[in-house]
Amino acid sequence: MLSIAHLGKTFEDGTRALSDVSLEVGKGEFVVVLGPSGSGKTTLLRCINGLVTPSTGTVELEGRRVAKDSLRQVRGRIGMIFQDFNLVGNLTALNNVLTGVLDRTATMASLLYLFNKEHKLWALECLDRVGILAKAYTRADRLSGGQQQRVGIARAIIKKPAVLLADEPVASLDPLIAFNILSLLKDINRTHGITVVCNLHQVDFALRFADRIVGLAGGGIVMDRPTDEVDEGYIQDIYRGHDQGLFFGPGADQARPEEDLRFTA
Ligand SMILES: Nc1ncnc2c1ncn2[C@@H]1O[C@H](COP(=O)(O)OP(=O)(O)O)[C@@H](O)[C@H]1O
Ligand SMILES: [Mg+2]
Repeated sequence: MLSIAHLGKTFEDGTRALSDVSLEVGKGEFVVVLGPSGSGKTTLLRCINGLVTPSTGTVELEGRRVAKDSLRQVRGRIGMIFQDFNLVGNLTALNNVLTGVLDRTATMASLLYLFNKEHKLWALECLDRVGILAKAYTRADRLSGGQQQRVGIARAIIKKPAVLLADEPVASLDPLIAFNILSLLKDINRTHGITVVCNLHQVDFALRFADRIVGLAGGGIVMDRPTDEVDEGYIQDIYRGHDQGLFFGPGADQARPEEDLRFTA
């Protein structure tokens, strides 16, 4: 459903962020792109949603080439989830979710009056899906980090996307909350068949949640394997030259996979 061929990106200042990246992602897969800081993960996601124009190569989503004249349709099929949530602080959780159905170019707050009852009921449904219906009328800036990311996920799924692109969605969260948020993403992936491409730098989370891990280093793919075939040696390849102590994310052993914590924020 997502087809990336020979993708390269060199920025204006000469920084080469990606080179010859080719990747096929099937419908319903949960793919983690794992790599150290600066390896090109964000640039890769931004090439998929058209925020960055590749220097070479192509991206196709559901058979449609991502290009200037297809951006509207392409973005209609993509839900984005961000590290810093990117919510509008002075809007309620509900209104933040509703902004997910707006065109990027629209002035969000000024257009909220356009939403009809069906939109609002569906947005409430999405908040319920991510476990924070009770916070629908709370301002986003009054929510905890975990709750804000739940709103971010509700905003991403409101348009029923084919794929969720998550750029380090738990990097700003405590380990246990991070675990819960990734569990929620996995559950949405499984239940609704929505494909997920998720950038992470924590190895333990990648091993726990991914169907498949793509290792990125220096802008190139250095590993692409089903998670159950990934061992320590491959992981070391990804982080070679990056002695950042990232093999096992801080406090990850505090996460409790056996408990159902999905709807605790
Ligand atoms: N707009 C930009 N202009 C110049 N260099 C950039 C830009 N965005 C990212 N880079 C560089 O591209 C490389 C990859 O960055 P990025 O995709 O953000 O990596 P990651 O998300 O894995 O940390 C880094 O060297 C970064 O400094
Ligand atoms: Mg990044």
